[in-house]
This record gives sequence, structure tokens and C-alpha cells, in this order.
Amino acid sequence: MEQKPKLIRLQKYIADCGITSRRRAEVMISQGLVSVNGKIVAEQGVKVDPVVDRVVVDGKPLKFNPAADKITLLLHKPIGYVSTMSDPQNRPLVKDLYCSFKERLFPVGRLDINTSGLLLCTNDGALANQLMHPRYKFEKEYRITVAGNFSKNDLALLRKGVKLEDGFAQPLQADLLRSENRHSILTMVIAEGRNRQVRRMLQALDFQVVALARIRLAFLNLDGVKKGNWRRLQTSELTRLQKLAKG
Ligand code: URA
Repeated sequence: MEQKPKLIRLQKYIADCGITSRRRAEVMISQGLVSVNGKIVAEQGVKVDPVVDRVVVDGKPLKFNPAADKITLLLHKPIGYVSTMSDPQNRPLVKDLYCSFKERLFPVGRLDINTSGLLLCTNDGALANQLMHPRYKFEKEYRITVAGNFSKNDLALLRKGVKLEDGFAQPLQADLLRSENRHSILTMVIAEGRNRQVRRMLQALDFQVVALARIRLAFLNLDGVKKGNWRRLQTSELTRLQKLAKG
């Protein structure tokens, strides 16, 4: 039986090939920078068959088989780096840490400039979407240092959940590792990734976060990856992430 061609929206295909973001691809299409089979396509919504259609973006032909070109890094982000692809204030960018790659690897979600720890960077848009979608509930574990004495009662309140301006937030798990007068250290697991969520949850209990590190994402941790370094995810790890998303 003849196989039906798998059609993909042009802007998605361009983004999947790691050229740029989907939104920027739409802009490039409107600007007449994209051609399909030799003809400029300036309208949105066109679908292509990556097996047979020849797509050229800003003079560069896209290669079929984006899967083979997918790269996902597990980065140990140091503090002082911003996890966006550009910064109007010219602060150091996480992508500066893996600039040897010519592919456009973007961070999956954000870690604040003052947060260190595990950050995945990829050119696989589908994987990034899955990891960030709240439906898939990928666990993220943080090690948090707060100023002052965090009591057992504070821990009980945190475990019950707190009200934030964008809704209720409850950790999947929260544990107190050490508590002293000057500072306390705890770990917390959350499945969401709202903006500055950990800091805001602690702030809701009147605690100021003085250090924050993401130490785990699903089954991935920072073992063997020093601050500022990265390693490539293995195929088996990528498969396991896919399975988690499905399961
Ligand atoms: N929660 C925060 O408050 N900051 C981060 O960087 C990550 C999670």
C-alpha cells in the first residue's frame, strides 16, 4: 500500500530543523525569505512534505531527517547566566556555554539568572514542548537555601500548599535537610514550571531564598557534570523521557 505523505506546517518544519523558533520562522516566511521547490512562499499555513519538498530558508537548503540532527544537552547552569537566546542587557547567555555547536540549541524552560543547576538545551521543538507542558508533569527537584530558621511548622505549611497570584501551588514533596538560625536548607519537588515558582512559594511563607539549584529533572541529575559543563543526552535517556511523557 502506498504510504501517505506526512505533511508538516512549514514554520514547524523550519523550527524542527533547528534553524530558528517557530515564531521567527513565521516572520521569515512573511518576509519572503523561504522558498518551497524554488517558489517563494510568503503566506502562512502552507504544509510541506519534508521527504520530497525542497525548502530553502534565507539561502540555506533544509535537510530532511531532522531527527538525525536533534541534539539535546544536559547543562549544569552556573548562576549569572540568563536562559534566553538573547539579552537586551548583554548579560552572559547559557548558549555561550555550548557555543561550539552550530545548531540553534535553546533552553527548555527557564532558570532564573540567580538559579544554578540542571537545564536541558535542545533543537528538538517537540521534546521541548513535551517537557514544558504541565500535562506531562515532569518532576523538577530543587535544593533551596532560605534565610532564617525554617521550622517543622513552616514545612507543614509548605507541604499543604500556598496561594500565589497565579493560583494555588503545592509541592509533590518537600523536605527539610537542615535548619539553623541563620539559614535553612530544604528540597522540594514540583511538577509545574511557573515563573519564579519556587522563590514565590517560599516568599508566600515569608522566607527569602538565598540560593536555589535545580538538582533533578525526572530521572536526570547532575552527576558527573560540573558547573558550566554539559553532556549530550543519550538515546536511551531520550527514549525514557518519551516513555514518561506517554505513560
Ligand atoms: N523556581 C524559581 O523560583 N526559580 C527558578 O529558576 C526555577 C524555579
